[in-house]
Amino acid sequence: MSRITLTRYLIERQHAGRIDAALRLLIEVVARACKEIAIAVGKGALGQVLGEAGRENVQGEAQKKLDVLANEILLEANEWGGHLAALVSEELATPHTIPNRYPKGEYLLVFDPLDGSSNIDVNVSVGTIFSVLRLPPGCSDPTPDCFLQPGRQQVAAGYAVYGPSTLLVLTVGEGVAVFTLDREVGSFVLTRERLSIPESTSEFAINMSNMRYWEPPVRRYIEELLAGKEGPRGRDFNMRWVASMVADVHRILCRGGIFLYPLDEKTRAKGGRLRLLYEANPMAMIVEQAGGLASTGRERILDVLPKDLHQRVPVILGSREEVERVEALHRA
Ligand code: AHG
Ligand code: MN
Ligand code: MN
Repeated sequence: MSRITLTRYLIERQHAGRIDAALRLLIEVVARACKEIAIAVGKGALGQVLGEAGRENVQGEAQKKLDVLANEILLEANEWGGHLAALVSEELATPHTIPNRYPKGEYLLVFDPLDGSSNIDVNVSVGTIFSVLRLPPGCSDPTPDCFLQPGRQQVAAGYAVYGPSTLLVLTVGEGVAVFTLDREVGSFVLTRERLSIPESTSEFAINMSNMRYWEPPVRRYIEELLAGKEGPRGRDFNMRWVASMVADVHRILCRGGIFLYPLDEKTRAKGGRLRLLYEANPMAMIVEQAGGLASTGRERILDVLPKDLHQRVPVILGSREEVERVEALHRA
């Protein structure tokens, strides 16, 4: 059986009428940018890419050199192809519109260029997260409002993980496919199709240092897990926290589990920790496409109507049974 590259996978989706040529080009361009980011990440200290950039982004977070570089790579790659109307990034205050010298398209691209920034300098997996929306009717000169669509309207979503190998995980709304970068050849090769998250699991991911800030439902849920065999769940649970959402979500896609970055007293004023448009929504689409659930605790993430480009939300996602349990505790 010959290898199926990302290019072939996308062309076959196009021939089947599932995606159009512009969306195919868009995903190819994003994948190419991710290869470039993977090369920069892989050079580490030899590439002079580690450390602080010396400035802050719109959210008041200190930018790393790689945050800035990854953002530039994605912007430059996507500007000229004619497939996009505008882009939004974690690292930009306002949408980046396509310069007049280039053709414009009907899609919007939203991304977190480098996820897991705190792990860059310690050689732990980081990634890129992206989401694709359609330009709504009447949005000829894209303003921030054009991007404020609920996540269920995403036409594609994906992430790259720059780990021991570089992976691209993609959904165009018909299941989740995983591609592994063949570094010698320079192409992404399909290595898993129709990924499905196990329904039940014994692994959870949460930053336990925030325990004293949690709301009662999350506190109760984690206490039940920690009680193990002797507690109401009747079995032991294991904990993992990489602090790169891409890596934590990828582990959950592969072997099940639940990821929580809930609302807590520390982040209440901001609405949560993770950003809706370029972290929660694309991950929620992927998790749902793999048969899991993604919730704020109180509602489905993909139904949240965004009010701001950089809006934050509580995120609880992963294996169906566990997310349902957390939702039930929020209702109790
Ligand atoms: P980013 O590097 O894009 O700002 O995102 C980091 C996020 C996410 O990847 C991770 O799950 C979370 O921050 C980690 O938060 P803690 O530092 O509280 O563990
Ligand atoms: Mn992030
Ligand atoms: Mn980031």
